[in-house]
Amino acid sequence: MSINLQDQFITNPYPAYAELRRLGQPYFIPHHPADTNRTAGKWLLSTYDQAQSVLNDTDNFTKNNAAFRTQGAEPGFDASMLFQDEPEHRRLRSLVEDLFRRTAIDRYKEIASVKARQLLADLEPGSRVNLIDAYAESMPLLVITELLGIPASQMPLLRRLSQAITTASDDLTVTAETHDAKAAAYRDLASLMQAGMNGEWETAEDSLLRRLQILNRDSLLSQEHAISMLLLLLFAGHETSIALIGSCLYLLFSHPEQLQLIRENPDLLSGAIEETLRLESPLQRSTFRMTLRDLSIDGHQFGPGEQISVILGSANRDEKVFSDPDQFMVRRFPNPHLAFGRGSYHCIGRHLSVLEARIAVQIFLEHFPNSSLAGEPSWHRNSFVRTLQDLSFFLEA
Ligand code: HEM
Repeated sequence: MSINLQDQFITNPYPAYAELRRLGQPYFIPHHPADTNRTAGKWLLSTYDQAQSVLNDTDNFTKNNAAFRTQGAEPGFDASMLFQDEPEHRRLRSLVEDLFRRTAIDRYKEIASVKARQLLADLEPGSRVNLIDAYAESMPLLVITELLGIPASQMPLLRRLSQAITTASDDLTVTAETHDAKAAAYRDLASLMQAGMNGEWETAEDSLLRRLQILNRDSLLSQEHAISMLLLLLFAGHETSIALIGSCLYLLFSHPEQLQLIRENPDLLSGAIEETLRLESPLQRSTFRMTLRDLSIDGHQFGPGEQISVILGSANRDEKVFSDPDQFMVRRFPNPHLAFGRGSYHCIGRHLSVLEARIAVQIFLEHFPNSSLAGEPSWHRNSFVRTLQDLSFFLEA
């Protein structure tokens, strides 16, 4: 069994995942496709049980990758919560967690709705439009920059740098060129955030940036940690939400009977979003964990220091957990998908991204209810962040 990176896999990776689940064995991918000797890489696990147990296990794995940076870690996020063990992970997370609670993010409803309406007001009924460029991309970036306290004028630059990072974050498609572009993007983003930390922008008193400035002033957070936190939140805080909005619109309009259920009962929109997260998980794989000791998973022996990542997009279609796993069913309940991870590293931005997707889809349905897909969409050539590249619609009010 080998994952063959043809266009077919990018469009539809799920038959390959089903085969991995059937075999039940870990699958090794080198950090770089050009490394044909497979000298360094990570093991991918594909079943729901394997995914759940790895994500919940902080005894046998470390997430602190500082010592293993040369083995494919993301330098920009190294000092962030995502790559720390306890108690440092909890300490960093608790500094900002309250800003992402359901009650706290309610304040972004208004901004998100106004932006969604503005974007749609610029689009002509009767036209053919790629909704990723014209709609899905802008609102999550606007919301996250507002939350962080970054001036709106920086958005085009942030988007470009963030895309360079996304492109090279996929071990299966990275090239020397995209890898270098990613390193440059990290540097540019870090110096931008440094400017923010140094107080070069006007920023709201209740923004996350302001909070980090105060923590830094009071010696509770180093500059390095603060900048890494900003980079992580900026990146994680919009790339995946764009993916979720695009995929949800696609799945609804390619399943008219499910769309009709939502038209009859708008409360089912939450179910559609959860089902999109399961069926087209925006992050197809988790970040990696490193084994701390000898370990056996489903009969496969790992030594200490091996990198393991779980294929969320496969676990979420595991037939042992989900009936009709390849079907899009907005009424699916329960839906214990792992799209936001599990355990202590589960996604901090879960409520924010669900809120954004709900607003984006709902307002689109109100504004252009009679629209239709203008052909098959295309996906970005990235097996890690699963985002539509072209989602063309014929718009009709
Ligand atoms: C559809 C949208 C999103 C998806 C599918 C998603 C997915 C995930 C997943 C799978 C993880 C766990 C990674 C692992 O354990 O290896 C994670 C963690 C994280 N996510 Fe998200 N995410 C989304 C949106 C957001 C947003 C909007 C933000 C912030 C504004 C965010 C910030 C984070 C952070 C900071 C972590 C690390 C948490 C920790 O280490 O304690 N994410 N996300």
